[in-house]
Amino acid sequence: MADHLYPVPASWAAKSRMNAAERAADHALSLAAPGRYWLDRAARLDWFRFPTRADESSFDEADFQVKWFADGALNVSVNCIDRHLAGHGDDVAILWEPDDPAEAPRRFTYAQLHAEVCRLANVLKAQGVRKGHRVTIYLPMIPEAAFALLACARIGAIHSVVFGGFSPDALAGRIQDCDSSVVVTADHGRRGGKLVPLKANVDEALRQCTSVEAVVVVRATGGAVEMVPGRDVWLDEAVRHVAADCPAEPMNAEDPLFILYTSGSTGKPKGVVHTSGGYLLWASLTHELCFDYRRGEVFWCSADIGWVTGHSYIVYGPLANGATTLIYEGVPNWPDASRMWEVVDRHGVHTLFTAPTALRALMREGDDYVTGTSRKSLRLLGTVGEPINPEAWRWYHEVVGEGRCPIVDTWWQTETGAAMIAPLPGATALKPGSATLPMPGVAPELVDAEGRPVEGAGEGNLCITRSWPGQMRTVWNDHARFFQTYFSTYKGKYFTGDGCRRDEDGYYWITGRVDDVINVSGHRMGTAEVESALVLHAKVAEAAVVGFPHDIKGQGIYAYVTLNAGEEASEDLRKELRDWVRTEIGPIATPDAIQFAPGLPKTRSGKIMRRILRKIAEGDVSPLGDTSTLADPAVVEHLVDNRIIAE
Ligand code: WT7
Repeated sequence: MADHLYPVPASWAAKSRMNAAERAADHALSLAAPGRYWLDRAARLDWFRFPTRADESSFDEADFQVKWFADGALNVSVNCIDRHLAGHGDDVAILWEPDDPAEAPRRFTYAQLHAEVCRLANVLKAQGVRKGHRVTIYLPMIPEAAFALLACARIGAIHSVVFGGFSPDALAGRIQDCDSSVVVTADHGRRGGKLVPLKANVDEALRQCTSVEAVVVVRATGGAVEMVPGRDVWLDEAVRHVAADCPAEPMNAEDPLFILYTSGSTGKPKGVVHTSGGYLLWASLTHELCFDYRRGEVFWCSADIGWVTGHSYIVYGPLANGATTLIYEGVPNWPDASRMWEVVDRHGVHTLFTAPTALRALMREGDDYVTGTSRKSLRLLGTVGEPINPEAWRWYHEVVGEGRCPIVDTWWQTETGAAMIAPLPGATALKPGSATLPMPGVAPELVDAEGRPVEGAGEGNLCITRSWPGQMRTVWNDHARFFQTYFSTYKGKYFTGDGCRRDEDGYYWITGRVDDVINVSGHRMGTAEVESALVLHAKVAEAAVVGFPHDIKGQGIYAYVTLNAGEEASEDLRKELRDWVRTEIGPIATPDAIQFAPGLPKTRSGKIMRRILRKIAEGDVSPLGDTSTLADPAVVEHLVDNRIIAE
């Protein structure tokens, strides 16, 4: 049943840019003649100097590099704003829907966007920001978030957006890692009727950071905050002293555009670096193809700008294509579960791009919240972030889209910049739960544990065998870690960390992470990060964290905690540890279950046997598989007997 095929609707086939055969031919051409193919595609951007070279990457250790369009020069903000001004200056670039539905939406045409971005760029310059400097952006989902990204791009500063849900500690770590000289924040953020004290969080973070010289504060709520004289400036006051025009800095295609921190299986979060030319090309091309975007349509990606999805599909992809992009400040279920559909109706949204976790949560509230709204403007629906279960897929398709909107399930990662495996709505027949086929230039390969390619239908670890324009270029300040993390497991290939199945039609089905990364409500979390936070607590001796299947979140966080000698396990301590992780990392990392464990299952060499911990957390306790290498089998019995049934 899951393999049931949904053919391309006739109305889509009639106007599509490519049909299935043309898509296959285009993909084959992209791999057979990549130089010509990508220099042709590069023409979709405006360049100061058009590149003569495309891919110069190598995944081999000896000459390892990821490099595209290296002799080209462009500016990303010119591509996202200035080039639309002549014919489309009055088109709406940004629609903003506030958290509180009683408040009025705001809108900005491309001409207005130009002025806003130039002014903010000039404010940053006045604070000493120059090409190559890092600017940390810690903002709610307000139009200024998009302005800030583009203002950095305009002057060649490298932005690092930190999700507003991260704690002061997590923010400080990300500021320190890339030595930001300026932070852009707001007084408060608003989400679901609640205030988030962003400025106060910045103040706390900056007690640990010496690199920051200035904090630019957006007056978003008008709430009271402390301003540090000589360091903090209100944006609304600073813009009065600057010009509404700011020349765009010519950037080399390979100059970094942004850093975005993401979790891996080990260590602290990595600063994923994306560059100006290849990234923008990838974001804009995939936005056009996956969503068959046509000028004039309203495109709504409901992700936060703090994640790569927001970078690529709220800001860079849509604006490069002259789209109208919707920014929504709030959450899907406030004031009630009909909010998303009301936003769709209010703004005439054509394409909605959201996450399976939001769909599962809304689905649970019943169909009435959906069917009470019109949704007649919708023509296409997208999902991203985690595998979508066929039940949620069908609900999205049948109830939300009334059977008329194709579902575009896009598989990709922070590292890949934008969509890698996805249907094209006018070309690709759909199967619920499959991201379907690779995008142009993408060469997926499934490998077995020894790295041998799996041919035809089968299952394995998902690698990509050659570079694509939107690939990350390095880990900020740690190029060795870049190679080590992604290219050392399987020689000569980029290893995604995902497991995957390929069916008889060549369709790809992502089965989830095969490393120690978990996916909680579409948010990526390294189990090692949560463990480090737990062991920082004075009463904790050791911690092991695993994921377990969760109806709404996809995966939940299950922590096994061993206390220091003499410490007593209690409900109070359990709560204290939950709150501890919230303050150390942020609410998204809060454990769903904490089990106190006198000991953890280890091999005789001292390695924690996570496979066993995962099975216990899943509630799948018999059989536990091979436990013969365990140092002390009694530990496992104790864990099984004291298992927590998580919500
Ligand atoms: C991981 C990347 C893609 C931007 C948002 C998340 C999982 C992502 C899908 C999908 C199945 C998916 C993978 C991937 N993932 N999209 N359509 N189907 N799994 O970016 O935080 O870098 O996480 O999300 O496991 O490796 P991210």
